[in-house]
Amino acid sequence: MHPPISPASPSARIDELREQIRYHEHRYYVLDDPEITDAEYDALVRALQKLEDEHPELRTPDSPTQRVGGKPREGFQKSAHSSAMLSLDNALDEAELRAFDNRVRELLNGAAFQYVAELKMDGLSMAARFADGTFRQAITRGDGEIGEDVTENARTIRSMPLTVKRQEAFEVRGEVVMNRRSFDKLNAARDESGQSRFANPRNAAAGSLRVLEPAITASRTLDYYVYFVLEDGRPAFPSHWESLDWLAGQGFKVNAKRKLCANVEEVLEFIRHYEGERETLPYDIDGVVIKIDSIEQQIALGYTAKAPRWAIAFKYAARQAETEVEGISLQVGRTGALTPVAYLRPVEVGGVTVSRATLHNEDEIERLELQIGDTVVIERSGDVIPKVVRVKMQGSTRQRFSMPTTCPVCGGHVVREEGEAASRCINANCPARLRESILHFASRSVMNIDGVGDALVEQLVSRGIVKSVADIYDLTADIVASLDRMGQKSAENIIRNIERSKTLPMPRVLSGLQIRFVGERTAELLAEQLGSLDIIADATAAELQTCPEIGPKVAESILAFFSEAENRKLLERLRGYGLQFEHTVKRKKSGPAAGFTFVLTGTLPTMTRDEAKAQIEAAGGKVVGSVSSKTSYLVAGEEAGSKLDKARTLNIPILDEAGLIQLLVRTEE
Ligand code: IVH
Repeated sequence: MHPPISPASPSARIDELREQIRYHEHRYYVLDDPEITDAEYDALVRALQKLEDEHPELRTPDSPTQRVGGKPREGFQKSAHSSAMLSLDNALDEAELRAFDNRVRELLNGAAFQYVAELKMDGLSMAARFADGTFRQAITRGDGEIGEDVTENARTIRSMPLTVKRQEAFEVRGEVVMNRRSFDKLNAARDESGQSRFANPRNAAAGSLRVLEPAITASRTLDYYVYFVLEDGRPAFPSHWESLDWLAGQGFKVNAKRKLCANVEEVLEFIRHYEGERETLPYDIDGVVIKIDSIEQQIALGYTAKAPRWAIAFKYAARQAETEVEGISLQVGRTGALTPVAYLRPVEVGGVTVSRATLHNEDEIERLELQIGDTVVIERSGDVIPKVVRVKMQGSTRQRFSMPTTCPVCGGHVVREEGEAASRCINANCPARLRESILHFASRSVMNIDGVGDALVEQLVSRGIVKSVADIYDLTADIVASLDRMGQKSAENIIRNIERSKTLPMPRVLSGLQIRFVGERTAELLAEQLGSLDIIADATAAELQTCPEIGPKVAESILAFFSEAENRKLLERLRGYGLQFEHTVKRKKSGPAAGFTFVLTGTLPTMTRDEAKAQIEAAGGKVVGSVSSKTSYLVAGEEAGSKLDKARTLNIPILDEAGLIQLLVRTEE
């Protein structure tokens, strides 16, 4: 039996939770390499929140709970920078970069030197001040001399460390960015709620940082990448490269895509490499920043009136081009949304011929004041389909676009609901909707059925072979082989891929159902929280909302979906084919509690059952429902019943809450 262990003091427990949360935030938001699930992380934050609510005197501004964003304010205070936040001179091509290199070599009188090449992140620059090991203040660039104090908003950025090892005061400077995924999600949500779209991730980042309500910033998933550290307004290390390593060591997000270059040729190699990689990066970049590594040499080179002589920004050519809009047609998506697409006179943009560009929705066409016949500027970024940036010149003959009242594919009614940006075909049997929904179901990130592409789905739908996603599982090699341009061998491959999809984890099945607002991530979160598809299908709105990130709107949509008899039938058919309905949790193999099985019973003094479970799982342990000879520990709170008796008879060690914490911490040493 365990010796009696005194309960940890609330303040010790708070410290411990904060340390764990900080560790996991750093893993997730800075290193992009999480060790625990989102649900486990949320449970830790909730446990801390609860203790802080009970002991408000122990709440501090550097606590991870303070990232949620406090009260809105009236306006921003102005604040002066410790030294000017300058911008950089640009080099627009190789010749301009070489001219910069020649100038530097001349000014340094032939002395040896190195360059540091970094990506030029496309966001907005911000300074952040630290003292006594804590984050104190954040200021936007403003006019370079005076910026706006955005401290409370910056606190909500998860990659901004709220505590650092260094105690002496210092300042960092870097870029606030929004990655493309968050940007797309944000715009999709704005479409849904009828708000205007942000034009690009930079505007979205700026619009999210400079809002008076920190809770809005908190909801927008921004990132802070730093590239400078200053002490009393001056560089703190003898070389820039060292300062970047030091910043990463303090817990800041520093872009790992950087290089110490011996000469301009190596710089050019770096530039060309990332020009090619540009589209695959998760965030927008608009060039490469090149700096002299040695701070002594930086000082020797000095500044012009507006920019340093020791650095330059190499700008990538914007992937834009001008062309004429020859027509606008509509695409029907799987939710029935009608997306207007501009048909363009083909034009080359960054090595690719473009003949179509998305216009998103009716409001977007209105915002652009676009008509057929106009000459427009189009832009290609990470997206597959380029977009129209603006109208360059009105056409001599113009034709206005208007949304039809019937679906161009099936003739069904088109409706635009109040507060929505999208117009939708409301015919549930619209073949275009069906086609898109089958393609989505079979796509790589959902059921990953290789071979089920455009041409095949088109035939399956138009011949009436597939009327619902479940019909895919009734296909045979003979049926598939009977379609145009399809051999026996590829038909057999497709059937094998369909078979294999049945083993894919439950969240994929859930996102394959195409419930509104339930994409891959939400499906993961629901699966982690609720465990099985049946539980999710029968959950109440309140139960659904115990899940992180699920609000009333999403819960409502899930309820509505499962209240439809047709959808229930679909579910039963998928079960019948043997698709996965249970969520198999990825368990950690290491951690202080790895290999131990716990049973929880009774009421614990500070933790809820879920919180205790999350803590155990975060430490690699397993929690099960009933006591057996395989149980490693019973964790018993007040009013523990039969499980306690059973554990006693089986001689299983019994822990109280403090004992549990002790165990999770002790074995960590
Ligand atoms: S150094 C005095 N490094 O680009 C030196 N800037 O055109 C100033 N930027 O205002 C900046 N990534 O907003 C630097 N790795 C990077 C950067 C970067 C993006 C932005 C920053 C700056 C602008 C200069």
